[in-house]
Amino acid sequence: MSRLRNIPKAKEAVRNSPWVLKEAVDKAAVFENDAPLHLEIGMGKGRFIMAMSQLHPETDYIGVEVYESVLYRALQRLDEDGIHGKEPDRADHSNLRFLCVNAVDLPEYLEDGSVDRIYLNFSDPWPKDRHAHRRLVSAGFLRLFSRLLKSGGIIEFKTDNTGLFDYGLTQYEEAGFELLYRTYDLHADQEEMRENVMTEYEEKFSAKGNKICKFKIRVVK
Ligand SMILES: C[S@@+](CC[C@H](N)C(=O)[O-])C[C@H]1O[C@@H](n2cnc3c(N)ncnc32)[C@H](O)[C@@H]1O
Repeated sequence: MSRLRNIPKAKEAVRNSPWVLKEAVDKAAVFENDAPLHLEIGMGKGRFIMAMSQLHPETDYIGVEVYESVLYRALQRLDEDGIHGKEPDRADHSNLRFLCVNAVDLPEYLEDGSVDRIYLNFSDPWPKDRHAHRRLVSAGFLRLFSRLLKSGGIIEFKTDNTGLFDYGLTQYEEAGFELLYRTYDLHADQEEMRENVMTEYEEKFSAKGNKICKFKIRVVK
């Protein structure tokens, strides 16, 4: 993503926001329920996870974004809804929170086996070979995510970048996942599109005529 410039106030707003979790997540205490937990890792400005949290009030969501300046955009969106300043438990989206951390540090914040589903949407491609370990669909990251997932937990990955997509398809087996679904043209799959929620990048790239690829993998443990 083209990095948004360091927006003054972003750091402070993210640190002070009641929507942003600051320490190891006690899920029952945060959400006061035992609903399934879904993460989006690399949520950007949050369009996808905000829509999902409204469509599925029966599920809890945590959006993970490494950059404060980007997460700040999501908080501003809550402002537009008039709820940013409110306590999450008194507002719409009460099933949504954020973590401003690098994915690599997630085990410090989430218990092993506590997550039902992970969404990776338009993850950064890191095209150079020497940066392959930074790709969120590399075997190293997938193994880390498998630790967080419950038995049978699922990862859904969407991208328009066929190089990154094909790379991910070479990685999941080694990381202990099995393939449930794969397409190189998601928007032509009417069945799968029934539940599809567009991300910011998906909207931008599909409008340019790029095809959207998607796979779903399930952890075998
Ligand atoms: C290309 S954007 C996609 C945003 C959004 N998911 C979408 O589809 O519109 C990728 C986002 O992932 C974030 N990101 C990249 N690597 C990350 C990491 N290791 N941990 C957390 N977030 C990361 C970036 O800062 C960026 O906001």
